[in-house]
Amino acid sequence: MAVTEVSQTALVSGHRRRISILGATGSIGTSTIDLVRENPDSFDVSVLTANRSVGELANLAREFRPDVAVVADERGYAELKSLLADTGVEVAAGADALIQAGQQAVDLTVAGIVGAAGLDVTIAAIRQGSAVALANKECLVCAGDLVLEECARAGTTLLPLDSEHNAIFQVFETENAGDVEKLILTASGGPFRTWSREQMVAATPEQAVAHPNWDMGRKISVDSATMMNKGLELIEAAYLFPVAPDDIEVLVHPQSVVHSLVAYTDGSMLAQLGPPDMRVPIAHALAWPARMQTPVARLDLAAIGSLDFEHPDDERFPAIGLARSAFDAGNGSTAVLNAANEVAVESFLNNLIGFLDIARLVSEVLERVEARRISSLDDFRALDDEARAMTETLVKSGS
Ligand SMILES: NC(=O)c1ccc[n+]([C@@H]2O[C@H](COP(=O)([O-])OP(=O)(O)OC[C@H]3O[C@@H](n4cnc5c(N)ncnc54)[C@H](OP(=O)(O)O)[C@@H]3O)[C@@H](O)[C@H]2O)c1
Repeated sequence: MAVTEVSQTALVSGHRRRISILGATGSIGTSTIDLVRENPDSFDVSVLTANRSVGELANLAREFRPDVAVVADERGYAELKSLLADTGVEVAAGADALIQAGQQAVDLTVAGIVGAAGLDVTIAAIRQGSAVALANKECLVCAGDLVLEECARAGTTLLPLDSEHNAIFQVFETENAGDVEKLILTASGGPFRTWSREQMVAATPEQAVAHPNWDMGRKISVDSATMMNKGLELIEAAYLFPVAPDDIEVLVHPQSVVHSLVAYTDGSMLAQLGPPDMRVPIAHALAWPARMQTPVARLDLAAIGSLDFEHPDDERFPAIGLARSAFDAGNGSTAVLNAANEVAVESFLNNLIGFLDIARLVSEVLERVEARRISSLDDFRALDDEARAMTETLVKSGS
């Protein structure tokens, strides 16, 4: 079931919302926390999680007094326990604890963990039946069919947090879904939009994470630089909205003001505009179906002056094509694409491979690993492990 068709009853307005923030110490988590701070009468934070940022997590837990604070990396348990000893906040650590935190009964879960590491806990949150605001796009790329099946089974509302998908969600006329001609996902083009291939060969991690418009975590910043982020988003959009992948177009829009568009059969295009600040789509999800105040800078269209759009360059940015082909090939291929990309990005950030090697490795792993169809989480884990191992072998061998 696409998000535009799901039940709209999960969020009841007019009472304080209990929320879980998965990945509270990251970029999405920090923006969410900022909005909660601005609206102290609207939210109670029930769950906060992090991976290794124990000090930061402890500070947040001290401020918001959730029922439980979870550090995924078990090595952080003793420190977190000691930092929160006098607070009454339950402290837990490890993969099982993370899943249990996802099961906590809340009104809304913000899924802000990065990568496939967020899949199990996001599914746990979905199974508990209330709304899930999904930033962690890799969940859909890895196991979109399973995620949507779980949503349908539990009656869970999935609210898109990614700015492009949130934009589409805001202007998608569910009642006229049959009259949607295409979706247009906009892309900033990343820091290397105007670089030649020769320059990109020597691009460093520092240059790749220096995004011109958005302040994000390191992995998604590299994904934006390769434009794999847009490839992942294309797959995400194909799961979220009832539109064929061939009818989802990508346009580079360097100002990041128009966050995406829906084109209808009468020639109308509806777009959502806003400043490049994730607090806008997060606020939309936190308050949905109502709206809430945010402190973000308002758009000054006259100061911006003009908005530019261009087609992406598939030669310098092959990742979008790889993602499109993987989606066409089936859900095993998108899982392989994601695993290979996660390992390749990490390898690039650790200076083990060059920038252009990221898409090259993803392409090679897609050719080498047999992308069996995924029907269960066990199927996914087996394929994910295999694709990661293959990518690591290729990185080590330098091929
Ligand atoms: N940032 C954006 O503007 C933006 C926009 C659209 C979509 N998204 C998507 O949102 C997700 C989060 O992105 P981000 O930029 O916020 O990432 P980030 O800044 O790197 O934060 C990631 C969060 O996940 C936690 N985490 C990392 N590895 C984990 C693991 N193995 N187990 C449990 N928790 C783990 C981190 O904890 P530690 O702090 O302890 O490492 C941190 O809290 C990604 O899927 C991204 O594509 C982000």
